[in-house]
Formats: sequence, C-alpha cells, structure tokens
Amino acid sequence: MIILGIETSCDETAVSVVEASGRPNNTDSDPIFFKVLGQALYSQVKIHAEYGGVFPALAKREHAKNLSPLLEKVLEEAPVEKIKKNANFDQEKIKKILERETGLADDLLALVSRIDPPAIDAIAVTAGPGLEPALWVGINFALALGEVWHIPVYPTNHMAGHLFSPLISGGSFQFPVIALLISGGHTELVLAKNWHEHQVIGQTRDDAVGEAFDKVARLLGLPYPGGPAISLLAQEARNANVTAEFSLPRPMLNSGDFAFSFSGLKTAVLYLLKKFDDVNDDVRHQVAREFEDAVTDVLITKTQAALRAYNPKTLVIAGGVSANTHLRAAFTNLAKKYPDLTLLIPPAALSTDNAVMITAAAYIDLLAGRKPATIIHAQGNMTL
Ligand code: KG4
Ligand code: ZN
Repeated sequence: MIILGIETSCDETAVSVVEASGRPNNTDSDPIFFKVLGQALYSQVKIHAEYGGVFPALAKREHAKNLSPLLEKVLEEAPVEKIKKNANFDQEKIKKILERETGLADDLLALVSRIDPPAIDAIAVTAGPGLEPALWVGINFALALGEVWHIPVYPTNHMAGHLFSPLISGGSFQFPVIALLISGGHTELVLAKNWHEHQVIGQTRDDAVGEAFDKVARLLGLPYPGGPAISLLAQEARNANVTAEFSLPRPMLNSGDFAFSFSGLKTAVLYLLKKFDDVNDDVRHQVAREFEDAVTDVLITKTQAALRAYNPKTLVIAGGVSANTHLRAAFTNLAKKYPDLTLLIPPAALSTDNAVMITAAAYIDLLAGRKPATIIHAQGNMTL
C-alpha cells in the first residue's frame, strides 16, 4: 500500500510517500518492506538558531508556510498513479479545518485544483509527542487533505517512527528488540516483544540527551542544534590527542536500573566553565570531548544492562542523537561482543526527524488493525 507521511512535531517540516508491504502477523519472521517513493524536508534550524532553541509559535508558522510546497514537490517526484477524476469535496469544510493555520487553506485549495489526486491509500500524521502548536498544523493539514482526496488518516506516534526507522534502510527486526531512542525530547530504552507490544523499560528523569547536547553547546557558545557542533569539536580533540584535564560525572551509571539523568551533567559543565578565566578554544575542545565521552559511557552501560536483562536478538539505536559518529562507533564495538545480536542504526538522514519513519510506524499500526480517525488531537506527551 502507498502511504503519505506528514511530520511537524518539532522544527522539521517533512512529507514523504512510501510504498509499504509485508505482513508480520505478530510473528518474528515475517519481514516488512518499505520503498521510499518521494520525500521532502524543510529544516527550520537556521530560523530557531537565533533563539537558541525551538520557538513554538515560529515553528507553527513555518510548518503552515512550507507544508503545501513540500507536498507538491513530493508528489511531482513520486511515481504514484494519478486518479483522473477529482472527487467532490466541501471547500468550506477545508477552510474550517485549517482556519487556525495561516494561509494553509488557500495554499492547499490552490494545490489540489492544479493536480490530479494521487492513488494514495493512507495518510499518516504525527499526533505526538512534540510541540503541540507544531503538531496541530500537520494534523489539520492531514485531515484536510484526507477530506479533499477521500483518503483515511492515521494518527501516528513519533517515537514509534524513530523505533522503526532502521527498517526503511533495509534492516529487519528479530524479536525481542531492545531500542535506545535518543533525541532532543526523549531518552528511553524500549523493549519490543513483537511488532505491536512495546514497553518503555527506562527513561530520563529530567533532560533528554539531545537536550543536554544543546544546552552544553549553548554554554560553550556554539550554535543550535548543539549535537553536531559538539560532535565536531570532540572529533577534532580526538584527532589532535587533546584530552581533558578534568572529568565530568557519568550520572546514574550504577543506579542498577534503566533510568537516565542528564541535567546534572549540564550543571557540572556550567560549574566547570566558571573555573576558567577564559573559555578558549582549547577548553571548548576538552569539554566537548569529555562531555561526549560521559554521555557515551552512560548510554553504553545502560544499554548493556538491558542486553543482559532481556537478551534481545536486535538492538536499535535511533533518534537524532544516534547521528553522532562517536556514539555509533561505540555501539558498533559493543555489538561485536554479542555475536547473536544484530545492531541496527539508521543512516543519519533517518536518525533525525523525517516523514518516512512516520509512514513506517503507521503501516505497523495498520497491520495491528488500527482504524483511521476523523478527529485527531495533538498529544504533546504521547507515550509509546
Ligand atoms: O530526533 P530529532 O531530530 O528531534 C527530536 O525528536 O527531538 O533529534 C534532535 C536532537 C537535537 O538535540 C540535536 O542536537 C541532536 O538530536 N543531534 C545530535 C547530533 N545530530 C543531532 N546529537 C549528537 N550528535 C549529533 N551528531
Ligand atoms: Zn524525533
């Protein structure tokens, strides 16, 4: 089946068209396949960088501005058949659905008058977790589009998208699966017993790991988002054999559970920096390296504990922070110690937010018998 994906939970506006096939039937052996037919993504990071983080009202406005052009671009490139006869729809209803999204009703009505409806079977839209003002734009756009083209709309969980993201690049799951989901808003270890039963076995008590990267970057005077900036400095420090003259804490390393905490690490960096009269380039390199090492130690140790406790066949590392090269290398090394374990880390473009992973999560929901919705609420705190 062909699924259109829409993602607006944070600061990326993304649209995709994906062909999904395969029937797992709750067994570990039945694979699922995804073929990306088209995708387009507009990142707002440059716009938010000025504010040092994502500014929700601005994110909402940018999503509304970009959704319709992105959809047009995706439909132009995706080899999807067009249905020649445009079915009837109620223009006033579309305007009503999109009344709060500035300019979007006009954009969408203009677009659908220009193009023939595509033969798409389902629309998948992120309903949470994320920033609610941002989520609403995608939800209302999806509902309006479903109304125009008479396509069912499926509310989808963004974290399930991250969980299933490695499937898109050809990975396959052997259950049980342990997943470490690390992003700007989440840090959680998930146990998936089969395609449809997922349980969060541990999560952060305060800041997410991506948030810690972003906050520490800010302390170091680096631009938002902080992950790539810190990663670059840390890499330079390693290449030049620059080691830190101090050490940072590894929070909850030996807590004996799967919980995380990263706010103390950020505070430790804050106090550490106060000790330096001059936070120069050398200090920044040392902090970046030591911070990345501290985060890596914690994530590796906790994941290893989960491997011991659940003996999974597949380990997934996903979410924006899994784009980090040092972390990827550390997990690759860890996995070598477990010959029966398959490690799946999506390529960087699928690690960070995208709309392809949303179609994957929706397809798996659909296989479980999930019904489409005509009313969808944004759920900022939606859990897996
Ligand atoms: O999954 P994502 O794109 O959005 C959320 O759902 O939050 O993750 C964004 C987070 C940001 O905190 C960003 O700093 C972090 O992922 N990130 C990285 C790297 N690339 C992105 N963190 C560490 N190293 C990276 N290379
Ligand atoms: Zn995300």
